[in-house]
Amino acid sequence: MSKVSITKRWLVNNLGVSAAVVFFVAVLLSVLIRGYYYGSAKQYVNAKMNTLISMLQGSYQDSPTGFASEVKSMVESFPDRNKAELMAIGSDGKIKLTSSGFVPEYTLGLQDYKDAVASGNTGFYMGRSESGEGIMAVTAITPSRWGEFSAIRLVTSLDELNRTVAFYVIIVWLAAFAIIMFMLLSGLYFIKSIAIPVRQIGQTARRFAKGDFSVRIAKKNDDEIGELCDIINHMAEELAAAEAMKNEFISSVSHELRTPLTAIKGWAETLDGMTDDPAAMSKGMKVISSETERLSQMVEELLDFSRIQNGRFTLVKATMDVLAELGDAVLIYAEKARKEDIELVYDEPEMLPFISGDKNRIRQVFINVIDNAIKYSDKGGLVSIQAGETDDGFVEIDVSDTGCGISPADLPKIKTKFYKANHTRRGSGIGLAVADEIISMHGGTLDIISEQGVGTTVIIRLPIEKNEG
Ligand SMILES: Nc1ncnc2c1ncn2[C@@H]1O[C@H](COP(=O)(O)OP(=O)(O)OP(=O)(O)O)[C@@H](O)[C@H]1O
Ligand SMILES: [Mg+2]
Repeated sequence: MSKVSITKRWLVNNLGVSAAVVFFVAVLLSVLIRGYYYGSAKQYVNAKMNTLISMLQGSYQDSPTGFASEVKSMVESFPDRNKAELMAIGSDGKIKLTSSGFVPEYTLGLQDYKDAVASGNTGFYMGRSESGEGIMAVTAITPSRWGEFSAIRLVTSLDELNRTVAFYVIIVWLAAFAIIMFMLLSGLYFIKSIAIPVRQIGQTARRFAKGDFSVRIAKKNDDEIGELCDIINHMAEELAAAEAMKNEFISSVSHELRTPLTAIKGWAETLDGMTDDPAAMSKGMKVISSETERLSQMVEELLDFSRIQNGRFTLVKATMDVLAELGDAVLIYAEKARKEDIELVYDEPEMLPFISGDKNRIRQVFINVIDNAIKYSDKGGLVSIQAGETDDGFVEIDVSDTGCGISPADLPKIKTKFYKANHTRRGSGIGLAVADEIISMHGGTLDIISEQGVGTTVIIRLPIEKNEG
């Protein structure tokens, strides 16, 4: 459908106008060619006739008596006989003499003679002769005192001239036709090179819309259309990756939700009706309570994430002490680290400058990062936390671990939502995305340095509050 309309538009707007111009020029050239050739022929006969008349007038003044023989000799020895024929005509309209020597029988009735007789001067005619030949003729009436010849007439054949004019006009029209054909073919080729890829792009986009990202557009040329194909292909790749990540996210979140629910359900059923074992009861209640806590944390994280996505994530900023929040986060994980046989070392500095920030959110970031450090370390690992102040006005917190590390290919992507480099550990893949967003909302940075198999360091920098007091 698009092809028809682009081609049609081009045919009407572009080719139509150009063809009209070419056509107009061809008509103009044809008219000019005809005008030029017939004009010069007419000029020739008129000028010749004038010379002849003035020659005759000259010789009449010299010897009026022998004038008729003067006319005779002029006709008989007419020098331009290959170009034209000179005739002497009697007062009855009959041809008396011709420069070709052949004297036709008929009485003259053509327009040149009629006009010359009527005006008593000269007459001009262009058209068919009595014998059907194309001619141009001039007749000039001679004064009656010139004797037996009442007029002289110069006739030139137009057959040759007509052929020449027709030849040039045909050339002009052939050239015009060739130009229009060339414009049509090259234009159609050009339009095809646009319309066909555009149609393919449309078809492919329609399949994308149906959720099929496996198709790609074949790139033909390295031009704007080719670039568009590349962009669309790239878009398909990104969409497919996002789609895969979303599915992965849904499955890992469901999994994450199911694990604590299974524990809670299991313990609830076990405890149902149990009254005689207070130790087991207390253990079961603890599990239920901690798993519920985990579930609500996860739901909070998901809600935070969704708030970030639709721009409703806000901070409640106040002057705050980073060390207090960091200390809290370390304390929360001290027990867990000990259970998993991971050494958690925290070099707590005396004090740090205050920052302006949302302390709950900042603590959430520390929890996320320490959680990752422990989660992605194995038994016997070391997680060390350092805090300090930089020369350029930042508070810097480094969380290093000796865990599994992150491959260079994954490293640039792990801060993006849903991205999980390690599928052996639990997690929804949004912790770092949320942490990074929180830190950048504070005007800070969150950088990750990692070597696979060696360990990871997360470096968080937060700007120190400007002290106006
Ligand atoms: N300290 C680390 N060591 C090794 N890999 C890490 C570390 N921190 C993050 N990662 C990698 O980065 C990915 C993204 O981390 P992120 O915290 O965003 O998600 P998660 O821990 O999988 O899930 P969530 O934190 O939402 O429960 C992780 O899946 C993991 O592969
Ligand atoms: Mg995490």
